[in-house]
Amino acid sequence: MTRPVPPGIRRDPIYLDYNATTPVDPRVAEVVTDVLTREFGNPSSQHAYGRSARALLEVARARVAELVGSAPGRLVFTGSGSEADALAIRGPVRERILAHRPSHVITQATEHPAVLEACDALRTEWGVALTVLGVDRDGVVDPSEVADAIRDETVLVSIMHANNETGTIQPVGQIAQLAHERGVLVHCDAAQSLGKIPVDVERLGVDLLTIVGHKMYAPKGVGALWIRQGVTLAPLIAGGGQEEGLRAGTENVASLVGLGRAAELAREALAAGESDRLRELRNALWRALVDRLGGRILLNGHPEARLPNTLNVSIDGLRAVDLLERTALIAASTGSACHAGDDAPSPVLVAMGASHDRAMAAIRLSLGRWSTAEDVERTATAIAAAVASS
Ligand SMILES: Cc1ncc(COP(=O)(O)O)c(C=O)c1O
Repeated sequence: MTRPVPPGIRRDPIYLDYNATTPVDPRVAEVVTDVLTREFGNPSSQHAYGRSARALLEVARARVAELVGSAPGRLVFTGSGSEADALAIRGPVRERILAHRPSHVITQATEHPAVLEACDALRTEWGVALTVLGVDRDGVVDPSEVADAIRDETVLVSIMHANNETGTIQPVGQIAQLAHERGVLVHCDAAQSLGKIPVDVERLGVDLLTIVGHKMYAPKGVGALWIRQGVTLAPLIAGGGQEEGLRAGTENVASLVGLGRAAELAREALAAGESDRLRELRNALWRALVDRLGGRILLNGHPEARLPNTLNVSIDGLRAVDLLERTALIAASTGSACHAGDDAPSPVLVAMGASHDRAMAAIRLSLGRWSTAEDVERTATAIAAAVASS
């Protein structure tokens, strides 16, 4: 497969942060630019300009829907993954709140803040009961714990497909089956898994699925929520009735056409074995690091049930921020978040039971479409040199 390289990707530093964001694929940028320059119509307008923009938008919608399987349902375009998560979480609960019916929502501790904060807001704003389940040391939630947490008022279970920091994949199919036996809706944030592994709403059995443009080589600021037929949601933004009344606001046509093209390219890449190529590179990086660092390096996340591009490791006795400061050659991210100057360990690693030191040492190396074997070799050498100099 020919893979034009984005002009923004440089040899140095080596980009190893594809889980934070992906460069826009030049083949996506081409259609975005084309739409931006030629198609200015408002897709809600009835005249030729509007109809032309609408037609492009609907092709994009069909392509994104195809990427997540062809089950009947609706695909609502949003302005981000966070917005899709918020719509999925607040939407089903709001109707019950308005009817003064008690509600309960279940999620788990390693979700992205877009999910955790949206769930917590249900609790603080509307008094919704919330259960945040723990995970095991690999970051996996136990489906039987989800089943045990379900009660009569439970409206929704929100469990991500794959974790953004460790790549750990959750048993979403099993969870959805158990939840459906009790008539509970299931939302799945698939921001990180889409394009990296096959994602099929039918196989997962979920009712709501979050899609994020900038994790799959489309522009930032676009996302989507797939909604199973028959599932009703209250909108977060009221207004002009766009997106079947579920998300007011004139659609970002150019970027959404880009999302459609990115979905098409993702399907092609998956069919061409991109997951295997990334897994091999990722495993080669792990082996190269183990060769150089031996028992000092520890893997964070599930050893097998993990995204093929993600390697989260802790090097014993070395904080990730210090390591990254010493290795200007690589652009990766630490698992920790900085709050007001304070280094805090990653809540994901803490939820997995990692010690404070191990969590503070966690570094996430995430590979993608333009990662090469040479990048892997240079990265391992650079990390080993940084460890030796510390
Ligand atoms: C798992 C997950 N969900 C949601 C989001 C939020 O997406 P966005 O940045 O488009 O709001 C991200 C982005 O980091 C993510 O990794």
